[in-house]
Amino acid sequence: MKTEVIQLNPNKPESAGILRAVELIKKGELVAFPTETVYGLGADALNAVAVAKIFIAKERPGNDPIIVHIAALEDIFKVAIDLPAFVWPLAKAFWPGPLTLVVRKSEMIPPAVTSGLDTVAVRMPSHHVALTLIREASVPIAAPSANLFGRPSPTTAQHVLEDLADRIPLILDGGSTFIGVESTVLDLSRFPPVVLRPGGITLEDLRSVIDEVDVITKIHSSETKGAESPGLMFKHYSPKAELMLFDGPEEQTLALMQAMGRDLTEHGKRVGILITDEDATLLDKKMLDIERLGPKSELSKVANRLFAAMRALDQRKVDIILARVVDSTGLGLAVRDRLIRAAGGKVVKLNEE
Ligand code: TXA
Ligand code: MG
Repeated sequence: MKTEVIQLNPNKPESAGILRAVELIKKGELVAFPTETVYGLGADALNAVAVAKIFIAKERPGNDPIIVHIAALEDIFKVAIDLPAFVWPLAKAFWPGPLTLVVRKSEMIPPAVTSGLDTVAVRMPSHHVALTLIREASVPIAAPSANLFGRPSPTTAQHVLEDLADRIPLILDGGSTFIGVESTVLDLSRFPPVVLRPGGITLEDLRSVIDEVDVITKIHSSETKGAESPGLMFKHYSPKAELMLFDGPEEQTLALMQAMGRDLTEHGKRVGILITDEDATLLDKKMLDIERLGPKSELSKVANRLFAAMRALDQRKVDIILARVVDSTGLGLAVRDRLIRAAGGKVVKLNEE
């Protein structure tokens, strides 16, 4: 199948492109589209056959449930039942936007969407292309990130093409996404609510609206059956090259990364470095392929470049990537989480003095 790409104005999407996408969604086909976080791979959430095609195109395991996207608050009643009171202040504060709520599913949602769970993950994206598409299709749209399973999520239409060319009929190209990491997944089916995946809405943001929020700490191995949020599996969001992650005081950590980089280079390896602007200035740039993530002081920029930088290092065909963790405040928690998963959970820890 040849993949068509239609360019759209991200703020005011042209109707011809939207209509083409709507036609495909209604026929039970897949359409990749931009959201404010990352590109999604959408299907009619009420059509089990269409949803099954998502798993095939992405090579996604069947035990990883998919987020259902809506365009108006009242649509949540189609998708979910027994809504806890928390839904309303959270939706008021953060929808449309990068917050996904896990609630009890309605009968209308086929089990293929939720991998057989009795809960469903729902979010209302803020990107105009996403909102217009959902509204015009007049169905909720099930959409995981539009990457091959395990790869970094796509933040441009080009990334989607890299992974899914000839596997899907259409990509709506709305340019780069705005946030660059996925939505925060908050489980409201238990008390207190638990963040299953840190993302675009920070823990601090959530705590400004609801008093008590936990963060899941246990990370499941890919072998774990019935993982609470299978997207939490280790080794996810990974570049092709192996990623080694370092955590510790600045000077020692950068010195060790520098030494490792030199050693690996001497052994004939091409070494990529994934690092913030501040850290980059402290590294010797000889021999190393450096991808800067932006300034640590502006974590939104770092989040926005993270996946693109991983893909850029793959394009440069590096053999190994060395990276340093960031602080876990604000969006840093999501960035740190994605780095740890990209490293398959292996972190080289240097002790504080
Ligand atoms: O920003 C985003 O959330 C993007 C855009 C396209 O909306 N979507 C996205 O989807 O990242 P995906 O499929 O790559 O990640 C969905 C996450 C996974 O961690 C999955 O396990 C979790 O949501 N999830 C979905 N349904 C769930 C449920 N019923 N219970 C617990 N976790 C669920
Ligand atoms: Mg994903």
